[in-house]
Amino acid sequence: MLKIRTYNNISPLGLEKFPRDRYEVASEIQHPDAILLRSFDLHGVEIPATVKAVGRAGAGVNNIPVSEYTQRGVPVFNAPGANANAVKELVLAGMLLAARKICDAWNYAKHLEGDDDSIHHQVEKGKKAFVGFELTGKTLGVLGLGAIGVKVANAAIDLGMNVIGYDPLLTVESAWMLSSKVARASSVDDLISRSDLVTLHVPLGEQTRHLINGPRLGFMKKGAVLLNFSRSPVVDEDAVRAALDSGQLQTYVCDFPGQALLSHAKAIVLPHLGASTHEAEENCAIMVAERVRDFLENGNIRHS
Ligand code: MLT
Repeated sequence: MLKIRTYNNISPLGLEKFPRDRYEVASEIQHPDAILLRSFDLHGVEIPATVKAVGRAGAGVNNIPVSEYTQRGVPVFNAPGANANAVKELVLAGMLLAARKICDAWNYAKHLEGDDDSIHHQVEKGKKAFVGFELTGKTLGVLGLGAIGVKVANAAIDLGMNVIGYDPLLTVESAWMLSSKVARASSVDDLISRSDLVTLHVPLGEQTRHLINGPRLGFMKKGAVLLNFSRSPVVDEDAVRAALDSGQLQTYVCDFPGQALLSHAKAIVLPHLGASTHEAEENCAIMVAERVRDFLENGNIRHS
């Protein structure tokens, strides 16, 4: 009997990939053959010596000490692309929230008081503060053209935007999926200096920590919008705060906020919702469970 320890929030559809006649799957298992988790942070956690594989039901693996496990011969599996649709849709929502000032406008409208005549008067008077801009014809820079970045880029083309992409590690698969209408930037700086909105789709690692920093924010167009559906340390949040304060950035939209920007009036912050759809949770759990099972039963290592 093989044993799988689950840490949190794994869709039952993924767990069903481990047939009960051959697997025991539970959170309290003492000597598991594999670990399956979503956002639980394994850094500093001593995992049992019996663990032969770790699976993350998502794309990012920054909550797992991957190189430490790799040195121990424990492969880490993820679910690349399985939640790309969900993230893409939330990025589109984020662009619209910023462009049409929807959060501030909603906040204004829901606090109106009085009878209908008075509210209508306040609506017409107050709406002047919420004049936005159209995405059509604007330039979106997509930094990172993996499964999510490609979907965002293609969807933005469909919205009538001009799209520029940059990814020094572009795979053949992504290149195939990418619309031919997406222009290519020659560098990060080239991309951000030409874009009205910039969206980040890079994994968090030593090379991408503070990828967007003070000098780079200075290269952006004045009044640009920055969207971060990656991880908060990909940007230097203190520098973003300064750019929002000075008007260099119009809005920062972030799905994984750090403390520095939580309550900033020009930041739209979400509690890590990019992959939080029923469909994405199921897709991720199923994909990673299949990979872990394929490894345990056949020794296959599938990473893409
Ligand atoms: C991801 O890395 O794909 C997401 O963080 C998944 C999640 O929301 O758990």
